[in-house]
Amino acid sequence: MRKTLLAANWKMNKTAAEAEAWLEAFYPLEAEKAAADGLVEVAVCAPFTALYPLHRGLKKKNSVVELGAQNIFWQERGAFTGEISAEMLLEFQTKYVICGHSERRVLMQESSETVSRKCGAAAKAGMVPIICVGESISVRRGGLLKQWLEAQLYESLTFWDNQQEIVLAYEPVWAIGTKSAATTEDAQEACGYIRQILRERAGDLADDIRILYGGGVTPENIGGLLICDDVDGALVGGSSLDPVGFDKIVMAAVQLKTKK
Ligand code: 13P
Repeated sequence: MRKTLLAANWKMNKTAAEAEAWLEAFYPLEAEKAAADGLVEVAVCAPFTALYPLHRGLKKKNSVVELGAQNIFWQERGAFTGEISAEMLLEFQTKYVICGHSERRVLMQESSETVSRKCGAAAKAGMVPIICVGESISVRRGGLLKQWLEAQLYESLTFWDNQQEIVLAYEPVWAIGTKSAATTEDAQEACGYIRQILRERAGDLADDIRILYGGGVTPENIGGLLICDDVDGALVGGSSLDPVGFDKIVMAAVQLKTKK
């Protein structure tokens, strides 16, 4: 059984004070209870400066919402100006680390080799990497989707011993930052490929790995994505910044799950 995961990716949004205000608004809504009842899992991947205040706030409220980071460095400590270590993230009980988001791959020139090293550091420390893959519009139009995903996965997973828990996120670059996600058919096709590639690598263990969809997710379109057999949740950018909108996304997932 793969538990549906709804993960907010705030990207470079929200100061510590804004993060605290978000939590104050989100906690009393329905999603917290649904997650506490074990129906879904909810995580917030926040900027580094918001992790401590969020950790403190979540602990005080006894919340089941998990914390995630948006990056990590593979060295344990030392002269690596501007980087963050696994130990620093673990101090605030960070569970997830987004690795290889397309914004980092494109804007910071992160290669899949780098992504794999980061994932390895997160996994070694007991955290769960959320490994992002996805194609540009030109790759899709060129009919190269499967080859692209294969290459990205192959190179981003060199760290993996098939045993550590990982989460995959299929994020088509052309849908990110829009309000229009991939269609049900396109999301299923890509996530189906991803599971097939994981199966070639890890056999039946592939059935236990959660694959999220990300890119243009809204409360209105989440239902059409989560009905896909191989979509086990969502990585939500813009629509997660508003606590009410993110609550709606979580609750849409809960309703779909209880109907299934
Ligand atoms: P949007 O939901 O804003 O399209 O962002 C998706 C994303 O990149 C999540 O990691």
